[in-house]
Amino acid sequence: MSETAPRPILVVEDLVKTYPGRRMLIGRPKPPVPAVRGVSFEIKPGETLALVGESGSGKSTVAKTIMGFESPTSGTVLFEGANLADFTAAETRAMRRELQFVFQDPYASLPGRMPIGEIIREPLDIHRIGTPAQRRERVRELLQQVGLKLEFETRYPHEFSGGQRQRVGIARALALEPRMLILDEPVSALDVSIQAQVINLLSDLQEELGLSYLFIAHDLAIVRHIAQRVAVMNKGQIVEIGEVDDVFERPQHWYTKALLASVPIPDPRLRDPERRSRITADVAAAREKP
Ligand SMILES: Nc1ncnc2c1ncn2[C@@H]1O[C@H](COP(=O)(O)OP(=O)(O)OP(=O)(O)O)[C@@H](O)[C@H]1O
Ligand SMILES: [Mg+2]
Repeated sequence: MSETAPRPILVVEDLVKTYPGRRMLIGRPKPPVPAVRGVSFEIKPGETLALVGESGSGKSTVAKTIMGFESPTSGTVLFEGANLADFTAAETRAMRRELQFVFQDPYASLPGRMPIGEIIREPLDIHRIGTPAQRRERVRELLQQVGLKLEFETRYPHEFSGGQRQRVGIARALALEPRMLILDEPVSALDVSIQAQVINLLSDLQEELGLSYLFIAHDLAIVRHIAQRVAVMNKGQIVEIGEVDDVFERPQHWYTKALLASVPIPDPRLRDPERRSRITADVAAAREKP
């Protein structure tokens, strides 16, 4: 008997997003922007797919369309087998619990006037989950899970470093026990040493909670450490997709080769046990090269 593959948690089929041209006050109107031009991929439960490509290649647009922040021009997004376009408002709310988003900029994305505990608790309040006491308990559990001290609960975002703020963002995204996170360059705004810590945290959380990730990144050194598969985007299209090791060792498309040539790639044979310290070194090395 053949093994049946697990059903993908996310299926994106021939996704197209064209932003309408903007009317200008002066001069000619801007033409429409074909940001995503027929993108298809799947993500399996517990898997990380990295989406890489240079600035403007359409990565964030793919993420925003999956999240429903933007509506697709055409194509479909299936989450756990259901078509997001067919969802009622209630179903969309329910789906929101299962699929959460982590922003790139932990400075801009956290409300400054709220203490950390409230920021993390807010999704529970909005969805009316548990009693006030249970919500408080859940916040403490989340703080612990992302490696923040319990006494941080009453403090404000401006008192924290970028790495700590991104931990708050991750705790908030986890509050509703999602099955999948879309992470749009979650570490690019952070210092190199901090990047490795946050990447390690994300790996640990994935293992512990069985999460699926769509992980958007510029930095190929990071991708190697977090993702099993990688999709390379260029000008709104996926030009290459496959297992990370295959794509890194035998890139087929010229664009992938060019991307790889611009970043030093750490030796894939060096796997555990000293993984943690190595990630720090790798990322630092990748960044120090001009
Ligand atoms: N709201 C918008 N209106 C019009 N054009 C947009 C909008 N958002 C993005 N674009 C354009 O769509 C294209 C893809 O942008 P997108 O932000 O998806 O790229 P990206 O790969 O995430 O880039 P980066 O690495 O810089 O984050 C770009 O040309 C961008 O200027
Ligand atoms: Mg982007």
